Amino acid sequence: MAGSSLDGKVALVTGSSRGIGAAIARLFAQHGAKVAVHGRDTKALAAVCSDIEGAGGTVTQVVADVTKFAEIEAMRRQIEHDLGPIDVLVANAGGSFTIPGPVEQISEDGWHASIDGNLTATFLTIKSVLPGMKERNAGNIITMSSVAGHRPHPRSPIPYAAAKAGIEILTKDLATQAGPYGIRVNCIAPETILTERNRQRIPDEQKQALVDLHSIRRLGTPDDVARAALFLASEESGWVTGIVFDVAGGAVMT
Ligand SMILES: NC(=O)c1ccc[n+]([C@@H]2O[C@H](COP(=O)([O-])OP(=O)(O)OC[C@H]3O[C@@H](n4cnc5c(N)ncnc54)[C@H](OP(=O)(O)O)[C@@H]3O)[C@@H](O)[C@H]2O)c1
Repeated sequence: MAGSSLDGKVALVTGSSRGIGAAIARLFAQHGAKVAVHGRDTKALAAVCSDIEGAGGTVTQVVADVTKFAEIEAMRRQIEHDLGPIDVLVANAGGSFTIPGPVEQISEDGWHASIDGNLTATFLTIKSVLPGMKERNAGNIITMSSVAGHRPHPRSPIPYAAAKAGIEILTKDLATQAGPYGIRVNCIAPETILTERNRQRIPDEQKQALVDLHSIRRLGTPDDVARAALFLASEESGWVTGIVFDVAGGAVMT
C-alpha cells in the first residue's frame, strides 16, 4: 500500500461503482482503508472491487438505493459485519436528473428526482451512519456538492444546484452539531470532472469552451477529487471542519 494515512479505517464511499466515487474508493484503499464500494450496478461494483483487491486492498461490495432509508440501514449493517464500524463516510452518490432550462419548464418529477437523489440521499445516509460515530466519539464525513451549488448561472440545472446548495448548508450545520463528538464534516464541490460518463457526453467543441473557463487550463479528473477527499478524510486536515472545498481548477473562487 502506498501510504498509511487511513490505515485500518473503515470507509464507505457511496456511488463508488464508477466515476468520482470509484477513484476515491481506490485511493482510500491504497492508503490503507478498508473500503465499502457501493452502487446499484453489480457488474461495475465487482470491477472496482476486483481492482482494489488486485492491488492488495481490503474491500466489500454493497448495494442500496440511497433514496431509501431501509436499504441504507441494511447496507450499514452489512458493512459493520464485513469490515467493522464506519469511520469515514463519503456521501458521494448523486447526479443531475434534469436538463438545464427555464424554471417553468422543469417537470415536478425532474425536481423530485434531483432533490431525492442528492439532498435526501445525503441526509438519509448521514442519518444512518452518524449515531454510531457519535457513540464512538470519532468519525469523518465528506459530502459531495458541485460548484453549481453556489455559482448562479442561467444554464444551471436548477433542481440539482438547489439540492447541492442544500447539501452545503446541511454539511455546515452538521459540522457544528458533530464537532463536540470529535466528528469532522466537510464538503467537496467539483467543477466538471472528466469521468467516463462526461467523456462520452460532452462533445469535443464544448470541452474546449469548458477548459477555457478554468485558470488551470484543463478539466478535472476523478483523481483530482479523490486527492481532495483523501486530505479531508485524513488527519492531515485535523483542524478543518465545516468547509466547502472547491476542486475547480480556478473556475470558481470563493
Ligand atoms: N462528474 C462531474 O463533473 C461532477 C461535478 C460536480 C459534482 N459531481 C458530483 O459528484 C458525485 C459523483 O459524480 P460522478 O460524475 O462520478 O457520477 P456518475 O459517474 O454518474 O456515478 C454516480 C454514482 O452514484 C451512484 N448512484 C447514483 N444515484 C444512486 C442511488 N439513488 N442509489 C445508489 N447509488 C446511486 C451510481 O451507482 P450505479 O451507477 O451503480 O447505479 C454511481 O456509482 C455526484 O454527487 C455528482 O453530483 C460530479
